[in-house]
Amino acid sequence: MLELVEIIINDDHQVLASIVVDSIEAMVRQKPDSVLGVATGSTPIPIYQELARRVQAGLDLSRIRIFGLDEYVSLDETNEQSYAYFIRENIIEPCKINPANVRLLSGVAEDLRAEAASFEAAIKAAGGVDLQILGVGHNGHIAFNEPTSSLASRTRRITLTEKTIEANSRFYPSIEDVPHQAITQGIGTILEARHLVMLAYGEEKAYAVKEMIEGPVAAMMPASALQLHSHVSVLVDEGAASTLQKADYYKYEWDSKTEKVLD
Ligand code: F6R
Repeated sequence: MLELVEIIINDDHQVLASIVVDSIEAMVRQKPDSVLGVATGSTPIPIYQELARRVQAGLDLSRIRIFGLDEYVSLDETNEQSYAYFIRENIIEPCKINPANVRLLSGVAEDLRAEAASFEAAIKAAGGVDLQILGVGHNGHIAFNEPTSSLASRTRRITLTEKTIEANSRFYPSIEDVPHQAITQGIGTILEARHLVMLAYGEEKAYAVKEMIEGPVAAMMPASALQLHSHVSVLVDEGAASTLQKADYYKYEWDSKTEKVLD
């Protein structure tokens, strides 16, 4: 079970996904209407697949409530590149989540400020996010909070950096097609979730992971704000952990017999 602040290094993404899903399952068994915050992107996909597998095996997620982290401005839910589309395809449908329990940010709302305010109000009304899944960008962004975002920022419209546009262009016919703006939960909003679960895979994430865990807390490295939270789990593979000074210190072994992390 994931407890307090810990860093788990394991090269098997399936194992890491199972650790996270164990936590989600335990949470849902205790509180069937738990509030789960979901990230999009490639990294958390094994988590959603494992969650869907457990739903097939009988886990009931019909009462959980879901909040999204971010969305591109100008893409609606029918657009395959939208995060709403990703969440429906990878989470809502396979995990049999009640669509009425899902609140995502709309990138096509006429008034994005009003959309951001109503989204924040919806999180409050739900009693806050219980467990928030996060990924990190190469440049250290969390959700779409790019470097220099205030560590106290709230949900708002943001302009994406060249680096993020470039990283995301892999999903588009050409870089010109990548939206330049997004609406995103703020860092302050994210920090209010009760448990943050961050995943990062591959050497290309090593710089962000090192700065997030061992660097100074700074607006230039939005993920470093996680150092301010009292319940964070960071799950990384060897590549993403490769430049951590204290990697050995963080090393946990996974015991497949007891299905527990050994320390
Ligand atoms: C997505 C999101 C982003 C991603 C990050 C990593 O909702 O908030 O911050 O988590 O860009 O993306 P991947 O996992 O594709 O490397």
